[in-house]
Amino acid sequence: MLFQLTEEHLMIQKAARDFANDVLKPGVIERDDQQKFPAAEIKQLGELGFLGMMVDPQYGGGGMDTISYVLAMEEISKIDASVSVVMSVNNSLVCWGLEQFGTEEQKQKYLVPLAKGEIIGAFCLSEPEAGSDATSQRTTAVDMGDYYLLNGTKNWITNGGSASVYLVIAQTYPEKGHKGINALIVEKGMPGFTVGPKENKMGIRASDTHSLMFQDVKVPKANRIGEDGFGFKFAMKTLSGGRIGIASQALGIASGAYELALAYSKERKAFGKVISQHQAIQFKLADMATQIEAARLLCLKAAWHKDQHMDYNLSGSMAKVYASKVAMDVTIEAVQVHGGYGYVKEYHVERLMRDAKITQIYEGTTEVQKIVISRSILTQ
Ligand code: CAA
Repeated sequence: MLFQLTEEHLMIQKAARDFANDVLKPGVIERDDQQKFPAAEIKQLGELGFLGMMVDPQYGGGGMDTISYVLAMEEISKIDASVSVVMSVNNSLVCWGLEQFGTEEQKQKYLVPLAKGEIIGAFCLSEPEAGSDATSQRTTAVDMGDYYLLNGTKNWITNGGSASVYLVIAQTYPEKGHKGINALIVEKGMPGFTVGPKENKMGIRASDTHSLMFQDVKVPKANRIGEDGFGFKFAMKTLSGGRIGIASQALGIASGAYELALAYSKERKAFGKVISQHQAIQFKLADMATQIEAARLLCLKAAWHKDQHMDYNLSGSMAKVYASKVAMDVTIEAVQVHGGYGYVKEYHVERLMRDAKITQIYEGTTEVQKIVISRSILTQ
């Protein structure tokens, strides 16, 4: 077993770290405060190839492995989780789903500009009454011959306002349960499709989260992904990989907070010495470093499983449930190490603490991950 990154992995990690420090860090507090979508920063991220990292170069992507993706996600998330969620959704949910299951025509039309970062995409599963219980879709896609008539509402959609392409999960045959669900590619601007106001969130405040409304939207049959009724499996398979991305985001939030706490502990003096010389702080740093290392290994193992074409459903869920818990625990401790300074915005850790919470909720709550894990271990 080799616990060593390649030269290429190290280069990608450094490129992501430099971008995060040079481009994202200067405006991150202001964007969070004003809930300002990082449009210019996302454009640059796309130009560097980080929005279609794993897509085959023939479709405009970087042809990189999932380990590279985990490394890049960690570095971007250390500085700005509002940017890394855009990156995660575009790479794992939208590009991956289209590359695996789209037709050649869909790939040329949608995947190529998405992988190049010329446009961004959104993945639309959640509804007012179908978050964790993903089979209970109320949005309907009625088969009208040449097209589907799409009606319904989607909630909490990442990239909801800024995307150009939306992968929408909807029910075509309610009597068939999860086998009656389809996944459709919807373009912004299709008549009857409207975007609701931006959500005012606790964390990842600069990211663009909206409700979407579909009223008699005519979606061409050519925009269905996969066979008739494949939509639920499409969503599940896509989310399995997405969870590796969100686990890496959680890892980055934790390691970003830890690095800040470590540096601060070596500067701040109390009772006549820097606080890193106090055992109370040393124990906190030791716990944080250990938890982060364990989360990183889980993320990399899930990525390795995916790269080796092995089953990564279990390891991806384990990585997500653990890394998101570590993100919460570590960011709370990082604020504590900073004392009063940790409670104000300039020191970044309060934002990281707010950002951490969403990693336990989106792309499958901690509770859903435990369902996936327990079903898997009980049937082994
Ligand atoms: N891969 C492939 N197939 C899968 C699968 C997977 N990971 N998980 C389930 N399936 C298949 C099953 O094999 C089954 O197929 P068959 O009927 O042919 O045997 C079918 O799908 C139904 O599976 P279940 O009976 O297990 O379905 P369930 O109703 O019990 O639900 C669940 C299982 C795991 C709880 C699922 O509903 C789930 O994952 N829910 C959470 C959804 C989620 O992650 N939402 C987040 C929204 S997206 C988001 O947050 C993006 C963002 O903005 C950042």
